[in-house]
Amino acid sequence: MVEDNLSSELVTKGLSTRFVGQRVIYRSQLTSTMKLAREQARQGVAEGTVIITDKQTAGRGRINRVWLSPKGNLAVSIILRPELTHLPSLIMLASLAVVHSINKVTGLNPQIKWPNDVLINDKKVSGILIENDVKANKVNHTIIGIGVNINLKLTDFPEIQAIATSLSDELGKKVSRLSVLRSLLAEIERLYLVLTGGGCIYEEWRDNMLTLGKKVRVETGDSILEGVAESVDRDGSLCLRGVDGGLIKIVVGDVTRTTQ
Ligand code: BTN
Repeated sequence: MVEDNLSSELVTKGLSTRFVGQRVIYRSQLTSTMKLAREQARQGVAEGTVIITDKQTAGRGRINRVWLSPKGNLAVSIILRPELTHLPSLIMLASLAVVHSINKVTGLNPQIKWPNDVLINDKKVSGILIENDVKANKVNHTIIGIGVNINLKLTDFPEIQAIATSLSDELGKKVSRLSVLRSLLAEIERLYLVLTGGGCIYEEWRDNMLTLGKKVRVETGDSILEGVAESVDRDGSLCLRGVDGGLIKIVVGDVTRTTQ
């Protein structure tokens, strides 16, 4: 049987990172890990501090959406203090870290839907929310919030069943949330050190992008744009070839595929 308990000690014990996950705050329930992470970040906690919980009562998604976060889900927020120039790369870092850790622990091969949803067999298994606190061109802190559907039975959640999946539904067996989390923290630190050491993770993010070459509809602000997702830029934006042939650069939005 898969042991599915989380605690600060279980996460940190023997974790081979320098700073990500070396301090972990665990609560059995929270409104949102983002809220506690923000409070902790403002109090000046060390870079790499992690907040985890078994259940969120008010989990939040991108573009002010609700994120369903019952027990079985992994909900985690990581506090970083990057340079301003690294901010665009953090969506790449977070989604690649999720892809790698799921692959390492389960052997499954997730892909990225622009900008940073992680899908398996075209269904969402993980969502990422990044909050930056920047003043006068200086980053006070960044919080990377990650939700992974690990041991959820999607038939229990008919409202998202058509668009979401979980690792246990994909594999037909339970998966250790602790293993996914520890692997995720190690991957986040590894990729972060690549970035801060002057390396680049853009090509790898682009190469794992499911969206490219597909006909898509993009909801961005109040408008809906249609076209072919032609490429992604180093700053994280999506380049859409519109129906009139023009190239549109999209910084924030939500993509749905219109055809294979
Ligand atoms: C999305 O796909 O819209 C992003 C979902 C992000 C969910 C995670 S779960 C941990 C952290 N706490 C939250 O309230 N949201 C993020």
